[in-house]
Amino acid sequence: MKRDNFSGTFGVLVALAGSAIGLGNLWRFPYLVGTNGGAAFILIYLLFVFVLCLPILISEFLVGRRSQSNAVRAFTTLAPKSKWGIVGVLGVLGAIAILSFYSVVGGWTLNYAVKAISMDLLHTSEQVTDTFNSMVTSPFEPVIYMFLFLLFTAGVIIGGIKNGIERFSKIMMPILFVMIVMIAVRSVTLPGAGAGIEFLFKPDFSKVTFETLLVALGQAFFSLSIGCGAVLTYASYVKKSENIVKTSALTAFSDAIFAMIAGLAVMPAVFAFGVSPTEGPGLVFIILPEIFEQLPAGGFIAILFFFILLIAAVTSSISLMEVIVTYIIEEFRLSRKIAILVTLFIATILGTLCSLSQGVLSQIRIFGLNIFDFFDSLSANVLMTLGGLLLVLFVGWKLKKEDFMDEISNSGTLNHKILYGAIYFLIRYIAPIVILTIMIFGLI
Ligand code: TRP
Repeated sequence: MKRDNFSGTFGVLVALAGSAIGLGNLWRFPYLVGTNGGAAFILIYLLFVFVLCLPILISEFLVGRRSQSNAVRAFTTLAPKSKWGIVGVLGVLGAIAILSFYSVVGGWTLNYAVKAISMDLLHTSEQVTDTFNSMVTSPFEPVIYMFLFLLFTAGVIIGGIKNGIERFSKIMMPILFVMIVMIAVRSVTLPGAGAGIEFLFKPDFSKVTFETLLVALGQAFFSLSIGCGAVLTYASYVKKSENIVKTSALTAFSDAIFAMIAGLAVMPAVFAFGVSPTEGPGLVFIILPEIFEQLPAGGFIAILFFFILLIAAVTSSISLMEVIVTYIIEEFRLSRKIAILVTLFIATILGTLCSLSQGVLSQIRIFGLNIFDFFDSLSANVLMTLGGLLLVLFVGWKLKKEDFMDEISNSGTLNHKILYGAIYFLIRYIAPIVILTIMIFGLI
């Protein structure tokens, strides 16, 4: 069976950046920055992105492109008769867990986009809080929107890599970028925005704990889409002539820039209107509509914002779904259509459980968390970090160094020996030691 592929550098980049840039940047990042003390958290986050996670991103890219196969078989192809396939299995499970709660938030976003268009969003602050709470706890509405969101995701990847994922990302990513910059400009020019800008850029390290490090690391992994086979799966469709290091670096860079712009879009507005940044997961769904309500042309900005959130969510959820779909197609020899149906079925069931755990099933607790929070923290704090750790151990210690150098340099066509040596050093020693330390201390 001939495998599809991305057409060229720009296609790969927008797809990877599309996977990375998502609810993680626009929804998760701002509320984590808010609850973890602002600028100090951001600096630690950026350090993790470039020193730790970029080498992991490169490792994952390399494994995918060298093996040209799905997340599980990639490892068994590169290390035949070994147990390393388990890393891929963890990845596929992680992708399923993330897709499940991600689609719930994707559904909320779709619901809010519809509400914004029908002018049904902007009310007083109690009303906004009520709107959110009654929407997420309702047994039907969010489940239906979650399902629509999954259908939308499936509708993109049914077209395959080049005509589905690549085409969609090429159109949507530039639009996304222009729109978020518009919102950020509006936010930083509000009277009183200065306090929010200070919160984002003036670090106070006195409140940093190991917990902060763990949360920052989890967020860096989540935002770059690493450790769950998504980068690996996309990379398996990348041609041998693409520059791995350059594309990975540009992906990390766009993701970090986008997170910063998202911070600038949210925080100055939050401070300008005197609301607390420590609201948590409800920040963009409760606080922002309240703020939009008080802005001139707020109705239009609300539509713009929730539309941005929706596009960003879809360009990410397609990468999660593709991990599972590519795996099913290749391991069970099924057509893309059937593989998508199977994935939709699994994701709908688990997503429904996540959604209901906000309301009627809220009394079901796993380690003290409801199902939604359990999936979220299981994937960001355990599966992805563990996946990332095993991945760098695989590339640094199991894969032969010659193979690493051969793949990263496109069989010697690219000549950056010192850079590749430095990356290898980070992958082999620094990344595993730091991740392990943070995981151990974080768990204690
Ligand atoms: N990075 C995405 C975001 O920030 C989420 C995501 C998409 C993801 N694909 C992933 C996270 C794969 C982990 C693994 O919203």
